[in-house]
Amino acid sequence: MVQKEYKHSKLFPDLEDIPKDAAIDILEQKVFLSGGELKEWNGPFSKVYSPIYIHSNRESAPKYLGSYPEMNGEAAIKVMHAAKLAYNQGMGEWPTMQVKNRIIHVESFLKAFLHTKPEIVKWLMWEIGKNKGDSEAEFDRTVDYINDTIEALKEQDRNASKLELNSGIYAQVKRGPIGVVLCMGPYNYPLNETFATLIPALIMGNTVIFRPAKFGILLIHPLLQIFKDCFPKGVINVIYGDGKETAGKLMESGGIDVLAFIGSSKIANLLKRQHPSPNRLRSVLGLDAKNPAIVLADADLEIAVNECINGALAFNGQRCTALKILYVQKEILPHFLELFTLKVEQLKAGMPWEKDAYITPLPEPNKPVYLKELIDDAVLKGATILNEGGGVSHQSIFFPTVLFPVNKNMRIYSEEQFGPIVPIVPFDDISEPLNYIVESNYGQQVSLFSNNADTLAKLIDPLINQVCRININTKCQRGPDAFPFNGRKDSAEGTLSVIDALRVFSIRTMVATRDTEQNKQIFTQILEGRKSHFLSTDFLL
Ligand code: G3H
Repeated sequence: MVQKEYKHSKLFPDLEDIPKDAAIDILEQKVFLSGGELKEWNGPFSKVYSPIYIHSNRESAPKYLGSYPEMNGEAAIKVMHAAKLAYNQGMGEWPTMQVKNRIIHVESFLKAFLHTKPEIVKWLMWEIGKNKGDSEAEFDRTVDYINDTIEALKEQDRNASKLELNSGIYAQVKRGPIGVVLCMGPYNYPLNETFATLIPALIMGNTVIFRPAKFGILLIHPLLQIFKDCFPKGVINVIYGDGKETAGKLMESGGIDVLAFIGSSKIANLLKRQHPSPNRLRSVLGLDAKNPAIVLADADLEIAVNECINGALAFNGQRCTALKILYVQKEILPHFLELFTLKVEQLKAGMPWEKDAYITPLPEPNKPVYLKELIDDAVLKGATILNEGGGVSHQSIFFPTVLFPVNKNMRIYSEEQFGPIVPIVPFDDISEPLNYIVESNYGQQVSLFSNNADTLAKLIDPLINQVCRININTKCQRGPDAFPFNGRKDSAEGTLSVIDALRVFSIRTMVATRDTEQNKQIFTQILEGRKSHFLSTDFLL
């Protein structure tokens, strides 16, 4: 049982219990990045508290981590002007730079970025409570993503380094930037998912305004100087402050050309509606999801249980791809519930730096109250908490909670919990989970568990147009990043993957001419004289 290993009062550390390599200094961050300058902010600051409580004198309180500029709309608009100036209607140094030179800038950023790993991993642990292994994985995955993006862009450029002749027209077709991109990532992957849009947006020649997620803000601090040193001024700008105030004003101004946002559909809709010319706005959105697992009678029990635990509870269920509802067929139900509950009870709660800590502090201060409301509602309507320790919280730690049987009258049936609650719905007929998916507002992914090829094949075809990824005997997930990551309905707009991201942050654009001797001579002179960055058959290795 989870709590037996801990006295509640000692779940959180005393100051002296914190290992040296996890200890963190307070950071009063006074600057933001605009137009290539780290500018002092002279207005108010917001305080940052960790979800990790520090225990002293029989009391515990969230650790104070530091502060950041509480910028306002007016300041955000000034930053946007710097980004616009750098873009200069597409004629700036960055949007017109040769791809190979943009790559050199990104490579120099990557070189310096690699040194920030120990510091950023610490901030991930302290700001969002992500365990050490997952924090390191988030950093490493970001490094891989940048490297893969560079390689994908080289290949894209190689493929475009030729002229095509069609119906008497010569053309060179390439991809060009779109304009000023507003990048906002989510708090559960404040580094990786922000960079999954930031890097492709930059490398394609756009200029960027980046606003960190609502948690995981101070972790960006080590990168400000590197951004400043590695990119021409105004190409990357970093703002801080309330989203409604800053992002809202930016959208209202009409100066944002691409909105790259990973968060809730409610906020995304609000932001999009604020833009005065929706036809000028491109949106790349990763939004809500309520991915179900369907465990069929002939599933391999061990595999299904392990994948469902990991799928539902990794990082306390705070993944958009998490399995947020499990449908389990009645024949396998008793065995599934027994093994699933047993394994949930074995999950270790602890501080992010502790070995094997799986259940860690939740960054959203109101989350435990919300999760408790969902549980109380389900219990009132007939569900039981199956695991010992379920439904219990201690400050920011919320112990995983398995609810059974769940039905459509309960809030947990349709609300995205984004936390460590696992609702289980029993079913007889496959039409029951299928209807759930068809009627859902979300359409990201599904996991199917069965050992029978015929059973699975019959489900693949009806489900493939409901969601964007069917995982067979495997949890739902975003990676590997080479594969498309997207969703239907309220789950996403646009597709992200290493290659797709290069596409969504660019537009196909071309130079064409009629096939005449004179035009051929002009093209040859431009190409042989290397007179244009765009019209060029140079080959990137
Ligand atoms: O929170 C949503 C993330 O995109 C999920 O990514 O499946 O790699 O954890 P992941």
